[in-house]
Amino acid sequence: MAVCDSRAIRIEGLSYAENIVDLQPDSFTNEQFNNFLASRRSVRNFKNQAIPDEFIRQIIESVRYAPYGSDSDEIELTVVNNRAKIEEALPYISTFYSNVKGMLQSPFMRFMMKRKLAAEQFNTLDIHLMPRLLMNHYDISKGQDNITRNAPALLIFHAPKSAPEHSEDALIFITYAALAAHALGLGATINGLVGPAINKDAKVREIFQVPTHHEAIISLIIGYPKIHFKQGIKHLAKKTNWL
Ligand SMILES: Cc1cc2nc3c(=O)[nH]c(=O)nc-3n(C[C@H](O)[C@H](O)[C@H](O)COP(=O)(O)O)c2cc1C
Repeated sequence: MAVCDSRAIRIEGLSYAENIVDLQPDSFTNEQFNNFLASRRSVRNFKNQAIPDEFIRQIIESVRYAPYGSDSDEIELTVVNNRAKIEEALPYISTFYSNVKGMLQSPFMRFMMKRKLAAEQFNTLDIHLMPRLLMNHYDISKGQDNITRNAPALLIFHAPKSAPEHSEDALIFITYAALAAHALGLGATINGLVGPAINKDAKVREIFQVPTHHEAIISLIIGYPKIHFKQGIKHLAKKTNWL
């Protein structure tokens, strides 16, 4: 259908009106593309300003162009364009991470977690998260929201636990969403904290209305950025092996 000028080819499940778009000739150079990528940075300071739903809809439209591993419509997106709702969940998420800290500090619980979790998951908690937990970084009683950064909106991707390739797909979708938010002049940061709290804490799950048979995979905080980056930054060079 995407190569048929006369629109004679039809594929079940796809329609020209809903799924096929006219393409403009490539309108940017590689330099402009890299400039766009370089100017996207994680934004963790937001103006106290709500985002119109229409912007979120545009982000969702952009995600429709993302590649996917499994041709499944099982991945769902929950849009929480509602700061009050996010704040309702924050105390529970904060307590959840305080409990994670306690578990990592207990030799017995640590042993059990190491046995139960995949090495990647355990190391994410132990190596990446623990230094922040020890500083009480996610303790909202300190008066600071280092979990969702006072963002007015939160997008949560979730899927049935058994859905094929749902983690990979959701990570690609969230990347597209982050880039789309940036293209709209919004700021965003991928958030790995909200998902585990939804998965392990029934109250957080209930507040965000994620079905019990679903796994929350990844989320994105979005808002109007308070600051604008003047320079881009190249992260660590990826270790590359040319054969
Ligand atoms: C899977 C994943 C989870 C992340 N989780 C968080 C998070 O919970 N909180 C946060 O502030 N940033 C989070 N980030 C953002 C990274 O910290 C950020 O992308 C990284 O520091 C690079 O900075 P940049 O996005 O400005 O280029 C996450 C990024 C990814 C890819």
